[in-house]
Amino acid sequence: MTTAGVALAYDRWAPVYDLVFGPVFRQGRAAAIRAADRIGGRILEVGVGTGISLPHYAPSSRVTGVDISEDMLDKARARTRRLNLSNVDAIRVGDAEALDYPDASFDVVVAQYVVSAVANPRRALDEFARVCRPGGEIVITTRVGAEQGLRGGIERALMPLTERLGFRTDFPFALYTDWIATRSDVSLAERRAIPPFGHFSLVRIAKEKA
Ligand SMILES: C[S@@+](CC[C@H](N)C(=O)[O-])C[C@H]1O[C@@H](n2cnc3c(N)ncnc32)[C@H](O)[C@@H]1O
Repeated sequence: MTTAGVALAYDRWAPVYDLVFGPVFRQGRAAAIRAADRIGGRILEVGVGTGISLPHYAPSSRVTGVDISEDMLDKARARTRRLNLSNVDAIRVGDAEALDYPDASFDVVVAQYVVSAVANPRRALDEFARVCRPGGEIVITTRVGAEQGLRGGIERALMPLTERLGFRTDFPFALYTDWIATRSDVSLAERRAIPPFGHFSLVRIAKEKA
């Protein structure tokens, strides 16, 4: 997967994205937004897509959304205008792997169904940790692959197809735990199964206080 290829895939998804992926991820998004609003303050939503989550953040939270796909962002901008979301500070093009913000700019970094769509997930996680302030949190909803058994085999077999569509089906949770193990400034605060089908998790990663 390349970043340009992923952007193209989501430009193609943009017209139908909410129809196809709106209801199926609704409960997971609600759980992530609750977790983010519990901390509140400055929230960066990476891979904000069509902005489907934006109306659901608390009015007291200040939200910035970035994404690599212009066509997805056009939808997010239209939604922000249509619903007059005054707590949305900016909707901008931005690459999860090279965020255009200084260190510790945000209280919470949210990435919903994004890490398995990013070309280099570890690089994106490093960036999330960099722009999150000490004592803040990274809140992720993520696909988790089966790794073994029939489902694991099917997920690996589907990878060439799903990569062209902009996501991975074979995505081990060890990617997160291995990444956390390489760093002294983050820890796993929570992992919780979320619908649909138990193939997804809400993951909260705490950035240690300075
Ligand atoms: C499956 S969609 C999720 C969209 C939205 N977060 C949601 O809950 O429906 C994945 C999103 O991640 C974005 N994305 C993929 N790679 C990215 C990157 N390197 N930087 C920023 N956004 C990226 C895609 O353009 C797409 O909008």
